Amino acid sequence: MTNISSEGRQDHGLGQDVATGPESVPRSTFMRRAAAGVLLGVAASAGDMLSPLKMLAAGKHATSAAAKVGVWLGNVKNVKPNQYLTYTDPKSGDPSVLIRLANGQFVSYDAVCTHAGCTVPYDSTQRLLVCPCHGARFDPARGAAVVGGPAPQPLAKLPIRVDTGGNVYALDAKPVPGKAPVNQLKPGPPASKVSGEENDDGTRSRGRKGSKNDGGD
Ligand code: FES
Repeated sequence: MTNISSEGRQDHGLGQDVATGPESVPRSTFMRRAAAGVLLGVAASAGDMLSPLKMLAAGKHATSAAAKVGVWLGNVKNVKPNQYLTYTDPKSGDPSVLIRLANGQFVSYDAVCTHAGCTVPYDSTQRLLVCPCHGARFDPARGAAVVGGPAPQPLAKLPIRVDTGGNVYALDAKPVPGKAPVNQLKPGPPASKVSGEENDDGTRSRGRKGSKNDGGD
């Protein structure tokens, strides 16, 4: 038998009271609130799961920003059109050339010849990259396209950025944290050294010769 007390409590005869007054929550309401709580919990958990994704996206952004900065190679403020500089590509370790074209634009290429791996310097007289080993010629103004000799394909183009102050960055490499940037640009040798000097018998000796392994001269 169920008795209702003056305080509005029901006695189910089990020695326990179940509140039924104004502060009590009907079962259906309780269930609705519980369901809402579960949904909120799921939403919060989903939010938590999104956080790593957000962090990943932020990390990706930071990585691409670092890649945009690149590795400082040096300054080319005083380099004139048709002059070139050499350096070692920080990513591949290959000998590379940085050329200021006649139109003032800077371009950079991996100087390892695509024929047999000799180091290819720039010849400012011909305005071409000329391989001293077997005479392949590449046009730096046209993506180092092969314009003569046995090379099967152009030299590899290297991505660079030149800022308004003349600082050049290799964009295919990332700066090493804690390592101070060092000027890597060196003036290229004059064209006579590149194309070879004329011998007494009228033939031309080969100039600079180098393979990918010996790093050039
Ligand atoms: S290695 Fe350059 S032409 Fe042969």
